[in-house]
Amino acid sequence: MPSDAPSRPIQIAPSVLPADFSKLGEECQALEKAGVDRIQWDVMDGQFVPNLTFGPDVIAACRPHVDLLFEAHLMVNTPEVLLEQYVQAGCDLLIVHAESTVHLHRCLGQVADAGARAAVALNPSTPVAAIEHVLDLVEMVLVMTVNPGFGGQAYIATMEPKVRELRELVVRRGLPVDIEVDGGIGPDTIGGATSAGANVLVAGSALYRDPEGLEHAVSDLRARAEAAQAGAATA
Ligand code: DX5
Repeated sequence: MPSDAPSRPIQIAPSVLPADFSKLGEECQALEKAGVDRIQWDVMDGQFVPNLTFGPDVIAACRPHVDLLFEAHLMVNTPEVLLEQYVQAGCDLLIVHAESTVHLHRCLGQVADAGARAAVALNPSTPVAAIEHVLDLVEMVLVMTVNPGFGGQAYIATMEPKVRELRELVVRRGLPVDIEVDGGIGPDTIGGATSAGANVLVAGSALYRDPEGLEHAVSDLRARAEAAQAGAATA
């Protein structure tokens, strides 16, 4: 999509889901050293998704070890109940799933009232239309490219038209909104997601399985994303 809108900066956001949970502070430091732009915490409650992960105290324990932005991907029911705890734990940005609360507009307002930056996430089956009336409350929209709950799943390429639709919507409205994708992002998929309009790329497995290590994985993904974004801008 040729657009005179400036491309938004590419950001690599690791998921710590595949990290060694026995030393998460060191793992965060290794990610910072590897050159990531932020860290995503996949918060799961065993209800919204069939998995259970990080409570606020775990994140709070890691907070002093790095200076990176912490974003909490809240894959939880009733996020209103928990969100303040994750802000107090040191999360700078909270990602609320559109499907997780009846009162999404109010919940995103609560994130801002708690002093954090707000973002909204869409599961694969949820249309862009579900969030068009809250785009003024968020700095980012996360388009899930897997069904949430686990790392290491296959990328759902049919989400690319949804990313493109969302990108065209935010450009048309002149909104400074990042588009994040999460799930199955790696060397073979990051180009399609970025060409469609994503600029914040969450990767877990692809970072930790790179035989040349985290630093190589981060720089390789960044280079692929920047090349794809440049190509899309001139298409
Ligand atoms: C799903 C999780 C995963 C994770 C990244 O709920 O949100 O998408 O962050 O997983 P990979 O990069 O291993 O697919």
